[in-house]
Amino acid sequence: MEALPERVFRRGEERKPTMAFIVCEPCIKCKFTDCVDVCPVACFHEGANMLAIDPDECIDCGVCVDECPVTAIYPEDEVPEKWQKYIALNAQYAKEWPVIEEGKDPLPTADEYKDVEEKDGEFDPAPGEGN
Ligand code: SF4
Ligand code: F3S
Repeated sequence: MEALPERVFRRGEERKPTMAFIVCEPCIKCKFTDCVDVCPVACFHEGANMLAIDPDECIDCGVCVDECPVTAIYPEDEVPEKWQKYIALNAQYAKEWPVIEEGKDPLPTADEYKDVEEKDGEFDPAPGEGN
């Protein structure tokens, strides 16, 4: 049998030939959390005003994408150019913020901000409560 490529043997690589899904700017100040309720693993982490996906836990199933009312979630290789920084942001803050496994009410600011295009400056690095 032909040898598998070296990367297959690296820890965690076996089930991750592709990359994770990424929460992008539209989540900020909305945090609808519909995504959390359909995720089969505990890879969402809660910040004060957005969520992040842990790239080491996401199994790339994609079911969260269509659940988000503001289309905030993209596979890493389809993240729009203007939101590329969210790839690193998810990886960083998923390690700092608590896990959220059950959906909760959207933020009180969700309605006001769901159609706001530029809200990068509103990002809050503080952790959320998780559950
Ligand atoms: Fe969870 Fe699947 Fe979305 Fe990853 S792609 S965050 S595993 S629902
Ligand atoms: Fe955020 Fe959309 Fe989930 S707004 S919390 S990514 S459903």
